[in-house]
Amino acid sequence: MKILVIHGPNLNLLGTREPGIYGSLTLADINLRITTLCAELGLTAATVQSNSEGAIVDAIQTETFDLLIINPAAYTHTSVAIRDAIAATGKPAIEVHISNVHAREEFRKHSYIAGVAVGQISGFGADSYLLAIQAAKKILSQ
Ligand code: DQA
Repeated sequence: MKILVIHGPNLNLLGTREPGIYGSLTLADINLRITTLCAELGLTAATVQSNSEGAIVDAIQTETFDLLIINPAAYTHTSVAIRDAIAATGKPAIEVHISNVHAREEFRKHSYIAGVAVGQISGFGADSYLLAIQAAKKILSQ
């Protein structure tokens, strides 16, 4: 079973971007943890990062996967296009955030993605991705 993990805009800057909010791990560190845990659970993982909304829609449309884990970053709060692309796959999706979006600015509390996701994991730092993989394993085993 293959999991596609998509990281949205500015997540390429992890490690140096507002470390008080997003921690000190780089995206490469997080991707290594993702692929290691997936391998332990007998899953295959592919990771994609893009700063572009269209490229994220293209990845959702063209990559093959059984389950999508997505941190849409700022597009969470703005993108009907990413929401529609996820809905069109008919595959389960899990929304992930490193920070607790509900404990921050008001505009971060609304997600266009949550309504087409199985669930949202928010606020556990880089572990949010690993918790999502645990949830993915359970969903894919059902
Ligand atoms: C984020 C939260 C978003 O509000 C923000 O725009 C991000 C990162 C998170 O992982 O905590 O870029 O998705």
